Amino acid sequence: MDHRMSVYQALIHYLVLLVYPACAFIAGVDGPLLYQEALEGGNTTLYCDTIPTIADDELMLLIWYKEDDSIYSYDARISYEWSSVTFNRTGRLTVDLRKNPTVLSVSDLREDDQALYHCRVEFLLSPTRYTGINLTVIVPPSKPFFLDELGNKVQNKVGPYFEGDTLVLNCLVIGGRPPPRITWYSGDVLVDASDSESDIPNVRQNELYLPLMRDNAENLSCKATNTHLSPPVSAYVDIELYLSADNVSIHWIQGIQNGSLQSGKKAIVQCTAYGVYPSPEVAWWLNHKHLTQYSNQTWSHVTRTAVSRLQFIPTVADNQATLACVSTNPAIPPGRNSKADVVTLNVTYAPIVEISTLNMSKLNEVIENKALQLMCEVEANPPPDRIMWYFNGVQIKEGKIWGDDVFSNTIFIQEAKRTHTGQYTCSARNNIGESKAELVNITVLYPPECRGLGVTLNDETLVCNVTALPVPNTYFWQTQIDSQVYNFTTDLPFIPLSQFTVPLTTTVNVTCKADNGIASQQNLCTRSMSFKHLRPEPPQQCDLAYEEEQFQIKCIPVDNATYYEVAVWRMSKTNASLILDYRNSMGFGASQALTRHGGNIWLVRGKLGALNHGDEAGAAACNRYGCSTFLFLRPTEKLISSASIPWWKSVLDKDVGISLGIALLVIVFVISTALVVSVARRSLKKQPVPVIQVVQIDDVTRDYLSSTRELKMHPSCSLRSCSSNFLDENEEKSLTNWRREHVLRDWDPPPDVTLIRHRESAV
Ligand SMILES: *[C@@H]1O[C@H](CO)[C@@H](O)[C@H](O)[C@H]1NC(C)=O
Ligand SMILES: *[C@@H]1O[C@H](CO)[C@@H](O)[C@H](O)[C@H]1NC(C)=O
Ligand SMILES: *[C@@H]1O[C@H](CO)[C@@H](O)[C@H](O)[C@H]1NC(C)=O
Ligand SMILES: *[C@@H]1O[C@H](CO)[C@@H](O)[C@H](O)[C@H]1NC(C)=O
Ligand SMILES: *[C@@H]1O[C@H](CO)[C@@H](O)[C@H](O)[C@H]1NC(C)=O
Ligand SMILES: *[C@@H]1O[C@H](CO)[C@@H](O)[C@H](O)[C@H]1NC(C)=O
Ligand SMILES: *[C@@H]1O[C@H](CO)[C@@H](O)[C@H](O)[C@H]1NC(C)=O
Ligand SMILES: *[C@@H]1O[C@H](CO)[C@@H](O)[C@H](O)[C@H]1NC(C)=O
Repeated sequence: MDHRMSVYQALIHYLVLLVYPACAFIAGVDGPLLYQEALEGGNTTLYCDTIPTIADDELMLLIWYKEDDSIYSYDARISYEWSSVTFNRTGRLTVDLRKNPTVLSVSDLREDDQALYHCRVEFLLSPTRYTGINLTVIVPPSKPFFLDELGNKVQNKVGPYFEGDTLVLNCLVIGGRPPPRITWYSGDVLVDASDSESDIPNVRQNELYLPLMRDNAENLSCKATNTHLSPPVSAYVDIELYLSADNVSIHWIQGIQNGSLQSGKKAIVQCTAYGVYPSPEVAWWLNHKHLTQYSNQTWSHVTRTAVSRLQFIPTVADNQATLACVSTNPAIPPGRNSKADVVTLNVTYAPIVEISTLNMSKLNEVIENKALQLMCEVEANPPPDRIMWYFNGVQIKEGKIWGDDVFSNTIFIQEAKRTHTGQYTCSARNNIGESKAELVNITVLYPPECRGLGVTLNDETLVCNVTALPVPNTYFWQTQIDSQVYNFTTDLPFIPLSQFTVPLTTTVNVTCKADNGIASQQNLCTRSMSFKHLRPEPPQQCDLAYEEEQFQIKCIPVDNATYYEVAVWRMSKTNASLILDYRNSMGFGASQALTRHGGNIWLVRGKLGALNHGDEAGAAACNRYGCSTFLFLRPTEKLISSASIPWWKSVLDKDVGISLGIALLVIVFVISTALVVSVARRSLKKQPVPVIQVVQIDDVTRDYLSSTRELKMHPSCSLRSCSSNFLDENEEKSLTNWRREHVLRDWDPPPDVTLIRHRESAV
C-alpha cells in the first residue's frame, strides 16, 4: 500500500516538474535574495511566503530548490508532498505549511549545505513568486593553541618572566569557515587583533608581542571567532610573572592608642605586601637596625599577599624612630625587587628629667652675687604639662628669695645669696607619669669675712676667725709689736706665738686677712692682743734667808716660768717711803735660777744684799709674756739680827723713831711668831733651831689693807701688786706716799692676819 502510494507520488512529482521545469534563480530578477547563516551541525529555518496577494487566488504549488535541484515540493491541488530522499536521508528536513510564512527547517547542517536556496510558489491567478536565500554554513575554527618563539607548543603556562619583559607568543587556529579572526585579550581588554594566515595551510595565527605588566599578564587569552552565532573559541595561557610587591603597608594590631605607642608596652604590627610573586622576604627595620626576632610571615599564592607580624616593645629611644617594612623578592634582580612602607613611631613616655647648670664656672658652685641659673631639662612625650622645682625638699614658690620664673623650666637668680645653697631638684609631669630629677647640690661661694672677734688666742696660738666658702687656703698676718711690724703668711688660720722671736710683754696689734680664691676679703680682722694672762703665776712660797753673808730669797719654782726677778724696796732713811732699790734677774740668771741647790727643794734663789727693818724683798716669776706680780717678804727681826751686822750700825743708819716703831712691830711679830713656833713645835715635835725667817704677806692681808686703809684712790694698787712692776714716776710717787703714810700710821698687823711663818721648807 505504502509502496504503491510512494510510486504514485513520484509519478506526480515528475509530472509537476514537467509542467514547471527547473530553472536557475537569478537574484534581484526573479525575487529577493536573503542571506542567512547557520552553524555546522546546527539548524536553520528557511521561510517562504505562500499567501496569495489577490483575493480569490489560491496556492497551487510550492517547490524548494537547493541551487537548481528541487528538494521539496507540495502540490496543493492534490495535497501532495514530496521531498528529496538524498537531502532528507537522515530525516533532517521538516516542513510546516500551517505557519505563515511556511517554514522549512534543516537540522544537523553539514558543510555542503551551504548553497543558494530558493522557493517557487505557483498561484492560480497570481504570477509565480520566487524567494532566494543564500545560506552560509559556518564551520567554527579549532580551539586556539600556542607556540613560543622557538615554535614549541606551549602547555597553558609560560615563564617565568620579569615585569617589563616582552612576551612573544603565537596563537594558532586550525580551520574555520569563514576564516576566523584571532585576537588576544588581557582580561576583557583587546591587546592584539593582528591575525594572519600562517605558513601552514588552513591555519591562521596571531603572534603577540606584549611588554608584560602586572596588569596585563593575568587572564591572557587568545580568542578565535568567525560568527556571531556562537561565542568565540578561546584558550588561556598562564604567564608566570615574577612581581615585586605592588605596595606594602604597615598597620597596627596591638599596642596603638591614638596613634601612639607607649614605652615599655608590647606592640604588634603587621606588614602586608600586596601583589607579590613568589613569596618575598619581608624584613623589619627599626631606625636602620634589622629586627630579626619576634616576627613571622605567611604568604598566600592565591591573593599574592605576604603578611609579616612583628612583636616588639618600644623604648624611649624609639620615639620618632622610623619603622620600615621591606618586602624583597629574591627571585627578582636587585634594584627593582623591593618595596617598603615606613612609619614614624610616636612613643609616649613619662618625663625624663635632668638638671643642668648654666653659665657656672665650676660644677654646681656659684659665687655670691653672681647669677645662678638652673635648667630643668625634660624629655617627655607628650610634652610635660607641669614643671616644678624643689629646694631642700620643699616646693619652690614664686617670690621671696626666688624669682618669678619658678614655673618655667629655668630658675634664674640674678644675684645668688648664701641662702640659695642647698639641694635642688625639679619634677615634670605628663599624662604618662611624673618624674623627679636627681638632686643637685648647689653651693654659693663667698669671700672670707671676719667672724666674732676676728682674731682670738687659743692657748699660745693666734687664730684668724673667718667664714668663707670654700675654706681659705692662705692667711696673711700683720702684727705690730712695739712699732715693729712683722708679716707672715700661713696656710692654716693659726700662727703660734713661738713664731715671734721678740718678747710679747706689751699689747700687740694683730691683723689677719684670708684668701679663698673667690674674692679678696673686704674688711681685715684686727685686734689688739694682750698676753698678760700667759704670764706665770706669782711665786707662791718664798723664803728669806741669810746665807753666804747676804740675804737671799728662795722660791719654789712656778709652772711656765722661764726666769725670775727679784726686787728690793728699801725704807727711806729720811722719810717713811719705800724706794725701789733694785730689780734684777734672780740669782745667776734665768737658767741658774732653776738649778737645784744641794738637793734642797728651794729651787730658785736670788741674792738681795743687805736688808734692814722695813725693807721688803720680792720675787716674781717671768716668761716671754712678762712677769707675774711680786711676792714680797719682809725680814723678821730675828733674821736681821742673825745677820752679823752690829745692831748699832743699823740704829745709827735709821731714824730712831722709825727704828723704835719697827722694833716694836718686830717684838709683836716675835711674840706672835714665838707663839706659833711653840705651837708648831709641839705638834711637829723636835725640829732644828730656826735659822731662816720666813714671812709672807698673803692675800688676806692685802685684802684687809685694801679695805681698811684708804686705798680706794688706787684701786689697782695693792701692797704686792704695786710693787711688783716697774712703775713710772707718778705711780712710784703715789705708792711711796701711800707707803710712807701707812707706815707712819702705826702699821700693825690686823688682828685676824696670820703672818705665816714657813719655818720648814714648804711642800
Ligand atoms: C534543530 O531541530 C531539531 C529538530 O527539528 C531540534 O530538536 C533542535 O533543538 C534544533 N536545534 C536548534 C539549535 O535549533
Ligand atoms: C523526511 O524524512 C522523514 C523521515 O523519513 C519524514 O518523517 C519527513 O516527513 C520527511 N520530510 C518531508 C518533508 O517529507
Ligand atoms: C552567496 O553567499 C556567498 C557567501 O556569502 C557568496 O560567495 C555567493 O556569491 C553568494 N551567492 C549569490 C548568488 O549571491
Ligand atoms: C604623639 O602622641 C601623643 C599622644 O597621642 C600626641 O599628644 C603627640 O602630639 C604625638 N606626637 C607626634 C609627634 O605626633
Ligand atoms: C595595594 O595593592 C592592593 C592590590 O595589589 C590593592 O588592593 C590596594 O588598594 C593597594 N593599596 C594601596 C594603598 O595602594
Ligand atoms: C606568629 O605566628 C603564630 C602562629 O600563627 C602566632 O601565634 C604568633 O602570635 C605570631 N607572632 C606574631 C609576632 O604575630
Ligand atoms: C703652763 O703652760 C701650759 C701650756 O702653755 C698651760 O697649759 C698651763 O696651764 C700653764 N700652767 C700654768 C700654771 O699657768
Ligand atoms: C723721801 O726721801 C727720798 C730720799 O731718801 C726722796 O728721794 C724722796 O723724794 C722723799 N719723799 C718725800 C715725799 O719727801
